[in-house]
Amino acid sequence: MCGIVGYIGTKKACPILIDGLMRLEYRGYDSAGISTLEDNYISNMKNVGRVKNLYDLDGINNLNGTIGIAHTRWATHGKPSKENSHPHMDNSKMFSVVHNGIIENYQELKLFLEKAGYSFLSQTDTETIPNLIHYYYSKDTNNDDKRFLRAVSSACKDLNGSYAIEVICKDYPDLMIVARKDSPLVIGSGINENYIASDIPAILSYTKNFYLLDDNEIVELYKNKINFYDINLSKIDKDLKSIDWDAALSEKNGYEDYMLKEIFEQAHTVRETIGSRLVANTPVNFDDINLSKDYLESINQIYLVACGTAMHAGLAVKPLIEKLCKIPVTVDIASEFRYRNPLIDNKTLCIYISQSGETADTLAALKLAKTCGAKTIAISNVIGSSITREADFTVYTHAGPEIAVASTKAYTSQVTILSLLALYFGEVLGISSKDEIEDIKNELLLLPEKIQTVLENIEDIKEFAKKVYTEKDIFFLGRGVDYTVSLEASLKLKEISYIHSEAYAAGELKHGPIALIENGITVVGIITDHNLVSKSVSNIQEVITRGAKTLIITNQDLENKNYDMVINIPKTNPFISPILSVIPLQLFAYYISKEKGLDVDKPRNLAKSVTVE
Ligand code: M6R
Repeated sequence: MCGIVGYIGTKKACPILIDGLMRLEYRGYDSAGISTLEDNYISNMKNVGRVKNLYDLDGINNLNGTIGIAHTRWATHGKPSKENSHPHMDNSKMFSVVHNGIIENYQELKLFLEKAGYSFLSQTDTETIPNLIHYYYSKDTNNDDKRFLRAVSSACKDLNGSYAIEVICKDYPDLMIVARKDSPLVIGSGINENYIASDIPAILSYTKNFYLLDDNEIVELYKNKINFYDINLSKIDKDLKSIDWDAALSEKNGYEDYMLKEIFEQAHTVRETIGSRLVANTPVNFDDINLSKDYLESINQIYLVACGTAMHAGLAVKPLIEKLCKIPVTVDIASEFRYRNPLIDNKTLCIYISQSGETADTLAALKLAKTCGAKTIAISNVIGSSITREADFTVYTHAGPEIAVASTKAYTSQVTILSLLALYFGEVLGISSKDEIEDIKNELLLLPEKIQTVLENIEDIKEFAKKVYTEKDIFFLGRGVDYTVSLEASLKLKEISYIHSEAYAAGELKHGPIALIENGITVVGIITDHNLVSKSVSNIQEVITRGAKTLIITNQDLENKNYDMVINIPKTNPFISPILSVIPLQLFAYYISKEKGLDVDKPRNLAKSVTVE
């Protein structure tokens, strides 16, 4: 999705803006641009392709302004081109604007502005914004220091849809105005300088102190002063928050790609997720949500709602919650949930899972549940992200910044935190076997060590990836939680290798998919639940008989039954085995992508956080 960076201070803005844009490259984009303001003149430079292409533009190194805005665009309205990329300016070149989000009524606004004499150079929805600001600015006869602010506020009131905007005006060389609605924006505060970004990692190397904007807030940013307003321009107060992410975590640290680095961080990140919530022989600690036994006894259903990998994390933990709490759990795709009138009332607990905390569908699904009276819990990795501000309670995964588009460490941290939550509910309700709860707790504590063991034995998976990277289709099979890992493994492979792949519950094979199995096809089997071993083995034998090449991920002692490759992983409690079994499959997708020479971290057409529908 699009990325935003801004700077106002005493240093040259251009290199800071380009550096920030480069740190946002992982979000996915097709063009980039910057505007800086100097001597009451706005320079506007943009180019298609990579951020580094900005350096090819004549005069970019001569931009000396100390105030500037910048953007990476992921096309929504109008194809990727120089004209459509941001910043966009009004006809008189008085204002320059960058925008994330979608202006739903832009056609209507465009018609209105055209009638008022404005013309448009691009096919974007965004270009209406600077012209609308100019429209209000030129109508305002009061030439005081708030005229710029009033014009932005009036324009924002006309916008339907979502936006995070930065605006500069040639009449106000010391002031930048930013605003947001349903699209993330943070302000990094420094000494005699302030930074703006759509994502914290863009400016993490400059400051750790942030103001997190809420919807319908407008901000005046000077280098040494920040004024916050609501949409009607009443002043509001905001707390400065300190974010303890280490800037080095946003670097590759010697790894070839962010994805590989993030896969290898998982022993550490799972340990961080567990943190002080779980200590041997002590009840699981969730002081931060503190749900009473009466409340938990009163609820009759739990929803786990999310998108993509985060939804797969929900699927992995559904069986554990149902086992320990005896409450039915529905895992739902946020974009489906929000439009299907789900049955929700005050006896429903809704848990929303999102690494970024900014996924538009997940956020909308959360808002829907609140209007129906349900309690809501947000599980997020990003401090202060939108879902954390909407939910009744928030639980952070503490996995550190995840930069690669393909989610890896966020998934294992989500499964870990949801498993802890299941244990917490189970202990509060007190209806399941203490021994079972203790076994899972002990196994969770051993996970970081076991993850390390998996990561120290990657040669076989690398070798198998080399054998099959030219395949057109790859199938994943599993039962129970192994099926949920199949879904995640298949998504990972599709995302970064562009190989078509399907995941099936192994028992479904005979109900159709087996028709696709032919000589030489690759099938990956995941077999970790001792109760289901013989069933899964039989299904794998059925595909071997039909000529499939097989890769097996298992923690069981399987007899050699003509498998092409077996990856043995440490044993653990079956309910939490996805945290281990997914890792070789993350690596499988990674090495296939590398063999194909693809850009692992920035797969085509994908964005790290999907902030529009
Ligand atoms: O930030 P979120 O967890 O809400 O993102 C949800 C999905 O967009 C995300 O998991 C996506 O499926 C990843 N690219 C998967 O690798």
